[in-house]
Amino acid sequence: MVRVSHILVVSCALFAAVHARPLGAIPQPNIKELRTEQYLGRWYNLYANSVEDRIFDGVTCIIADYGVVPGRSDAISLINSSQNKTTFLPYSTRGFATQSPNASEPGDFVVAQSVPGYRPAPKEPPVYVKANYVIMELGPVVDGAYDYSLISDGGNSKGLFVLARDKNRFVEKYQQEVLKKLATWGFTGALAPYVTAQNNCTYPPPPPAYA
Ligand SMILES: *[C@@H]1O[C@H](CO)[C@@H](O)[C@H](O)[C@H]1NC(C)=O
Ligand SMILES: *[C@@H]1O[C@H](CO)[C@@H](O)[C@H](O)[C@H]1NC(C)=O
Ligand SMILES: *[C@@H]1O[C@H](CO)[C@@H](O)[C@H](O)[C@H]1NC(C)=O
Ligand SMILES: *[C@@H]1O[C@H](CO)[C@@H](O)[C@H](O)[C@H]1NC(C)=O
Repeated sequence: MVRVSHILVVSCALFAAVHARPLGAIPQPNIKELRTEQYLGRWYNLYANSVEDRIFDGVTCIIADYGVVPGRSDAISLINSSQNKTTFLPYSTRGFATQSPNASEPGDFVVAQSVPGYRPAPKEPPVYVKANYVIMELGPVVDGAYDYSLISDGGNSKGLFVLARDKNRFVEKYQQEVLKKLATWGFTGALAPYVTAQNNCTYPPPPPAYA
């Protein structure tokens, strides 16, 4: 009996060692299917984590407008808009996202975009090398569009942000479940999501392509 439990303990320890992930790695899911047309349009940024602070520092009311790139079913155009917290002046970046050519990774994209006053907007979608934008999970389709999207930066830095179509609907229907899931995927402690403010916002009109 002693022997049996000893063997059990040893094999459990071995199993744990073999299946342990490298320190710091998070077991994040990723989506298996993406209908790109249902991913386009306006999104409101509702959560981020501290890894994304450089993006969210000093601005509020962050939205993203995703659009079609003519002739490119593997790419999305993007405009991120926000307001300076102090001046309330608009601040935006523009760019593109290119999807992984590997059909088993439909939610993996590489994003390239402008940084105002520092880097001009790219003129065409970047060449896909390695994802820096990974869709971990999509919400149900409501009125022909995914209702939320949970995104990581795909790297070891564990950046996180949460996009939704409608803040009130997200809070009512999905928020509790989503926050629970994010915690089980390792977004806790310093990596935990925090609310990104969408108060007193003056949103720009949607870009003409899908207005
Ligand atoms: C802009 O949005 C893209 C995709 O929506 C995201 O990867 C990026 O971090 C955002 N950048 C800024 C400056 O908001
Ligand atoms: C917001 O505006 C202030 C005052 O003009 C400026 O110093 C600051 O850099 C701006 N923040 C961002 C994120 O652009
Ligand atoms: C495609 O992606 C899948 C899932 O991430 C991976 O297992 C596979 O090795 C990839 N194939 C190629 C050719 O990179
Ligand atoms: C919204 O703006 C009003 C008037 O400028 C201000 O009093 C209020 O504190 C603001 N609310 C938030 C949540 O920022």
